[in-house]
Amino acid sequence: MSISVIRGMRDIFGPEISHWHRAESIFRSVSDDFAYQEFRTPMLESTELFKRGVGEETDIVGKEMYTFEDRGGDSVTLRPELTAPIVRACIEHSLVRHNPSLRLWYYGPQFRYERPQKGRYRQFHQFGAECIGSANPEADVEIILLAYETLRRYGVSDIRLELNSLGNADVRRRYREALVEYLTSRQDELCQDSRRRIQTNPLRVLDSKDEADRSVVEGAPQLHDFFDESSSAHFTAVRTLLDVSGVPYVINPRLVRGLDYYNHTVFEFTTDALGTQNAVGGGGRYDGLFAQLGGGDVPAVGFSIGVERMILLWQAEHADQQPEQSARVYLVSVGDDARLPIQLIALRLRRAGIHAVTDVLRRSVKAQMKDANREGAAFTVMIGDEELAASTAVVKNMLTGEQVTVPQAEIETVVSFHE
Ligand code: HAM
Repeated sequence: MSISVIRGMRDIFGPEISHWHRAESIFRSVSDDFAYQEFRTPMLESTELFKRGVGEETDIVGKEMYTFEDRGGDSVTLRPELTAPIVRACIEHSLVRHNPSLRLWYYGPQFRYERPQKGRYRQFHQFGAECIGSANPEADVEIILLAYETLRRYGVSDIRLELNSLGNADVRRRYREALVEYLTSRQDELCQDSRRRIQTNPLRVLDSKDEADRSVVEGAPQLHDFFDESSSAHFTAVRTLLDVSGVPYVINPRLVRGLDYYNHTVFEFTTDALGTQNAVGGGGRYDGLFAQLGGGDVPAVGFSIGVERMILLWQAEHADQQPEQSARVYLVSVGDDARLPIQLIALRLRRAGIHAVTDVLRRSVKAQMKDANREGAAFTVMIGDEELAASTAVVKNMLTGEQVTVPQAEIETVVSFHE
């Protein structure tokens, strides 16, 4: 029996890979423009990190983690997200003590044992950034703009920025009490999951997808009615800065996000083009996470974009369009004597930065020409006995069919000129 890829995980290859390369180069250039530094952490972390950081009552920690005992008997987890690992690393290396304002970005695979469907995988990739050390609203907006700019440069437009504020810890504590009281009074109308959450994570009931829950939520107390002056001022400043930056957004008072560490600003980039998996990215402020992980009072804010979803959205918006492939030169050996010499010419072209391909299967000229077409070569360079003797080559422009004989030393010039 043949062995297949694990359910919910994907091989990424063929034409799809060019989407990833383009995305990865945009992640680097946008991060550079915002002066963020790349940070790489291991794939495996102590299970305790996510229990304490993300929250035991969240879906991620409660039912989606790949957790196992390693051979030494320690409980380890394949990272389901990168904010807790980044905070762990900043504390471990005393980074905040050395630099009161840290700007970090990351990119890589995450693991969540969710039910796979289009846009939802068990191994998926995130690009994200964290602005660490500032409690001010300009940091929130810098992070939102970095996420927005990434999606804009990648070329997806069918997105909505949904924005909310959860207020500070005191606001949430008072709100939680009122919400628990309200939900308990109507618990018979709630689905089983939501009924359980009344005690464990009542705010999550607010973004329940269940129809009956929604009508209960309609009548729930409003978080914003509990805001104190500092929570309102923070949220107003974020909105004002977004307004002047020209970034459109909608306020969604029900947006609470699925991770426990948030306070004040939370946001999500959503789309209607991907069915139920409508969140392309999300984030928010997490002023309490450092303290929760033993790192003292360090405010921070960040986001992550789901790379698979961003690519799927681009494909949905640009049906049939492939990202441009760089032009390739295909060296065709006419007869056997040129087979080895063209390897040297190919090497010369590659050193000049020209993408060059040769046939290593020793095929006929006809088969090599067919292969050149399949490779999408912009030029073929044909060399046979006659050309070998005269140190020339026949360069054919595959688009126009135009053909010229040139000295071998000039191949670079001819193919570069036409590119
Ligand atoms: P999150 O909302 O859990 O936030 O994930 C961010 C994005 O990752 C989602 O919007 C989605 O695009 C993508 N994503 C999540 N799960 C899957 C999946 N199973 N398959 C495909 N894509 C998925 C976080 O992870 C936070 N750490 C974000 C953050 C950074 N908050 C502050 N800093």
